Amino acid sequence: MLKRRYAAALAAVFLIAALTACGGREDRTIRVGVALYRQDDTFITSLAQSLQQMVPEEEQVQGVKINLNVVDGRGSQTVQNEQVDQFLDRGYDVICVNIVDRTAAAVIIDKAQAAGVPVVFFNREPVEEDLNRWEYAYYVGTRADEAGRIEGGLVLDAWRAEPSALDRSGDGILQYVMLEGEPGHQDALLRTEHSVRTLTAAGVPMEKLSNHAADWQRGPARLRMQRWLEELGDAIEVVFANNDDMALGAIDACLDAGLEKEEMPFIVGVDATAPALKALEEGTLQGTVFNDAPGQARGILNLSCALALGQDPEDTNLLENGKYIWLEHIAVTRQNLEEFLPEEP
Ligand code: BGC
Repeated sequence: MLKRRYAAALAAVFLIAALTACGGREDRTIRVGVALYRQDDTFITSLAQSLQQMVPEEEQVQGVKINLNVVDGRGSQTVQNEQVDQFLDRGYDVICVNIVDRTAAAVIIDKAQAAGVPVVFFNREPVEEDLNRWEYAYYVGTRADEAGRIEGGLVLDAWRAEPSALDRSGDGILQYVMLEGEPGHQDALLRTEHSVRTLTAAGVPMEKLSNHAADWQRGPARLRMQRWLEELGDAIEVVFANNDDMALGAIDACLDAGLEKEEMPFIVGVDATAPALKALEEGTLQGTVFNDAPGQARGILNLSCALALGQDPEDTNLLENGKYIWLEHIAVTRQNLEEFLPEEP
């Protein structure tokens, strides 16, 4: 008798749990706050757009309503901290943070932990020590060194195919300039290091003529390249840019100086943004590295939903080392460009 009553009670518990998990889900709204470091960054804009486009399909799959609130930190950590506070005060289920200053991650993690709200960082990677402060802190992104190696590989392949096309001075050394992203950003540091190292490790003699942090932006990169063209002129054989916007800035400067595409240095970037793919097609950009914005958006959304619905993301095979979702880079040249062009509407 006692056993029976126990069994009935247990069944009731399961029934309630099942109703909350399924029936109750139909009208449930998940609230996800997304804090961008800057909305006017070309790559970040494309990532945020992908996120927004994926919401209706994800709502269908999960059987919930997803309320995605995207805010712009305008490059200020103070502004972003206030935005995070607002998300937490308003009882958001998950916060996704493209942190302005990577060294400020601990502050955000501690706030999220105090409020009991999981936090998913993306694109701007906190150090592991910070992520390890709390069980419910995660990172979605790409491996910065990998992008550098692939970018270096684009130049290496061209050098191996026809060294004289790159080494215009014929001195057997590749003279290059480096356009860098924001100092302290993992992608700026590691892309810079590994792009060049890929060539030197393969035995290509390299000489750095100059480097400059243009903070990921086209305008400042254009100005710097104008100066380099005046000071160094033909001596520049390769332009490494940590991202496509800065590579496009270098191309702008070459065009301003009246250079034909055959006269331009060998210019490479990272991201495979729409304008960069166009430049690749036109022949002014020589290669780029696909930085999977839709893949990162998908990872952020899947992880956010799992966390908001109280599922263990470990069970859904989403994570590596319990904390990370990594997307892979791909080299993009004129040979495989077609695969990356947006589909015609
Ligand atoms: C992208 C850049 C972007 C930066 C922002 C990098 O991964 O390649 O284009 O400006 O992230 O954090």
